[in-house]
This record gives sequence, C-alpha cells and structure tokens, in this order.
Amino acid sequence: MESTDVSSEASKKYIVHPGGKVTGKVRVPGDKSISHRSIMLGSLAEGTTEVTGFLEGEDALATLAVFRGMGVDIIGPDKGKVTIYGVGMHGLKAPTSSLNLGNSGTSMRLLSGLLAGQGFDVTMTGDKSLSSRPMKRVTDPLALMGAKIDTTDGKPPLTLHKTSSLKAIHYDLPMASAQVKSCLLLAGLYAEGKTSVTEPAPTRDHTERMLEGMGYQVEKEGSTVSLVGGGKLTATNIDVPADISSATFFMVAAAIAPGSDITLEHVGVNPTRIGVINILQEMGANITLTNEKVTGGEPVADIRIQYAPLKGIRIPEDQVPLAIDEFPALFIAAACAEGQTVLTGAEELRVKESDRIQVMADGLTTLGIDAKPTEDGIVINGGVIGSGEVDSHSDHRIAMSFAIAGLQAGGSIQINDCANVATSFPGFVDLANKVGLQIEEIDG
Ligand code: S3P
Repeated sequence: MESTDVSSEASKKYIVHPGGKVTGKVRVPGDKSISHRSIMLGSLAEGTTEVTGFLEGEDALATLAVFRGMGVDIIGPDKGKVTIYGVGMHGLKAPTSSLNLGNSGTSMRLLSGLLAGQGFDVTMTGDKSLSSRPMKRVTDPLALMGAKIDTTDGKPPLTLHKTSSLKAIHYDLPMASAQVKSCLLLAGLYAEGKTSVTEPAPTRDHTERMLEGMGYQVEKEGSTVSLVGGGKLTATNIDVPADISSATFFMVAAAIAPGSDITLEHVGVNPTRIGVINILQEMGANITLTNEKVTGGEPVADIRIQYAPLKGIRIPEDQVPLAIDEFPALFIAAACAEGQTVLTGAEELRVKESDRIQVMADGLTTLGIDAKPTEDGIVINGGVIGSGEVDSHSDHRIAMSFAIAGLQAGGSIQINDCANVATSFPGFVDLANKVGLQIEEIDG
C-alpha cells in the first residue's frame, strides 16, 4: 500500500503586519467534520456517493487516503468534488500497512469504532500532537462492546485486533464529545442489538444526520441517540457546507476591526455548531444570517458581520460544546473587548491539538494581554494587543487566531510553527490577505 502520510513536514512562520479591516464576500473551505464523515459513510454505502464542497485539507485527505488503502475506489478531490464508489458494510479490505492519520483526532477516534467491527487487524498512527492525545475515551467503551484494541499508555499508536463480533451497549458519555459518540455509533453499525449513547450536553450531530440521509434509522430521545446494528447504507449526494470553524476567524476579525463588513457564504449553521455566533452576539457583535436553507440534511446560511464594539462576558457553559473549536479565536475577541471575559467548564480544550488554554494564555500574555488560565477555562481582561513572537505549538487554530489578532496589534506579530494550518484551512493566508489582513508566510 502507498504511504498514507499526507502531513506537511515543512515548517512555516507567519509575520502579521498590524492594522486593517476585513471586507467582502467569501466562501471558506468545506466543513472538516462533514468531509471526514462523507468519506467514511460513502465508502460503506451501497452505490456511488458524489461529494461537493469537500475540504481539501490534510486531515480530511488523511481519511480519504486510508479508505483508498482499504480498497475503496475514490476519484478526486478535484475542486471539492469527490466520487466514492461504496463497497458496502463488509467490503473494506485489510490495509497492507499501518494507517497514518497525521494530525487528525477525528479520523483516529471515528475509525476506531468503524474498524473495530471489521474482520481484520489494523494499526493507526499519527503525528507528534495526535500521538499525545487521549484514546481511552474510545477504547474503553469499545472494549465493553468486545473490541480488542492495544494502546500505547492510552495514546496512539492503536492496534485493533480482529474480533468475531461486537455486542451493543448503552454508554453514558463521561464528557461531551461528538468524536466518542460517533465512534460508538459507527461501531454500533456492526454490533448485535441496539447501541445507545447518552451525552451530558448536545454535541455536533453530523454522523446522525448523514446516517439518516443514507437511509439508516437513528433514534433520538432526549439526550440519547441509538441505532440497531446490521443495517445498510444507501449512497447519496453530499453537499459539504463551508466550515463555521474556519468562518470563525473572519467573524472575529470583523468583530474586532473597526470599519469591517464581511459576508461568509454558504456556512454550515447546524444548531450544534453555532455557539460562536451566540457568544459573539452576547459580546455585542453585529451578526445577521441570510439565505438560510437546508442542504443534504444540514442547515446553511450566509453570515454577515459588521464591526461593533465588544464587551467581556461570562460565557454560558451550555455554549461550550457548541463552540468547542472556536475558543482560540474567541479569546482574541475577548482580548479586544471592553472588560472581563470568563470561560469555565472547558477543560476539554486542554486535550485538543494543543493545550489550547495554556498556549493561548501564553501567547496573549506575550502580546501584553492579561490572560490567566484556570483548570477548566481562562479569565481574559480586554486590553491593548502589542507586538511580539508567539508559538502556535503546531496547532492550526492557534496560528490562525493570532494571525487575526494582528488587525488590532500595535506592531508586527510573528507566529511560529504554522504548517498545520493546512490541516483544516488550505489557502488561509491568501484568503485572509484578500479580505484585508496583511500576513506574510515564510519557510523555516
Ligand atoms: C469533532 C468533534 C470535536 C471537535 C473536533 C471535531 C468531530 O471533538 O473538537 O475538531 O468531527 O466529531 P470532541 O468530540 O473531542 O469534542
């Protein structure tokens, strides 16, 4: 099998020149969560799935590469178009080498469930960041279903051993996690009986929506979602909306830079993803949604943000899972707001691609902002952003957040270790510069 390593090893730095505003109408790349799921479920479906708007970023490409390595014929991506010739629920072939998932936690956690029910052994590896991320949250419940998985002290690499069958379980999620929920639902497709998962708070439901779109019955009752194993998926066309997590950088940009007025087109506004809109509005941002419609079972809209002054708030804890990937950018909004912003109930941020509480607090402090990390959140006092050199710890969302901060900085900001921006937002620098930022990307 060809290597499935799609990550870029080259190191990149951003130099962000201060000032400016953002204006225009742009479409950011496709939703990462939905892109991963389109490949996974399209591969298991019967028939041909045509995907449009697919995210051509390294994480989703890692998922695509491993399914090719398991014998699925996939054409593309070509300008966001992917054609997947589904092999059916039992048509995957054993890969001939380990699966390298690069930086992608979503790939590894969802695949743990999906592959636990296949009749072959498989090893999954990742880059330095992924290799330090907790996997027991998926391997523990999968073990209860009868899966045999070796971890490395609870972390990747993971080796899944072939099992004769999986049994359905009911599982109460100890943390709000769409990755764990999805992992168990995907394993449940192969389990005997009804697998059900109860979540402590709502999390993104793209897996459930796509399963239903492919004709699989998914039951939802309150905070519990369940399905019965042994069914089949029917191929369908999938229109991947623009990723609200990528749109966030421009929403925050417009919210902090006077004179800004930007429209982000065809963005996914699934109610389980719009915490960033709710939080920014509570801070005083001027946001309007137009062209609202549902495409492929997912709500989308154009999002317009015009500058308005922000104030610090206590972020409601029920918004945390709905904005979980947006906090690095929201911390920049908090740094530019008048008064104090307090985040609690967000300890999950410590186990993302980096420890996003500590890394953001360190960077903000370097830039002269009073930002104090707490065990499960942060306290940020709005102030004046200065200049300096910050480290993204190879975390794509940290790199892009500090790039946006440049709009309100007193001098240039150098951001180190930015290559992983390509995992979720290929073309970020070009698009950012097109709408009004001034970012120089340099090798090294
Ligand atoms: C994701 C779920 C979230 C999110 C991640 C993508 C998904 O992770 O942070 O970027 O696609 O299911 P958790 O489930 O760990 O919160």
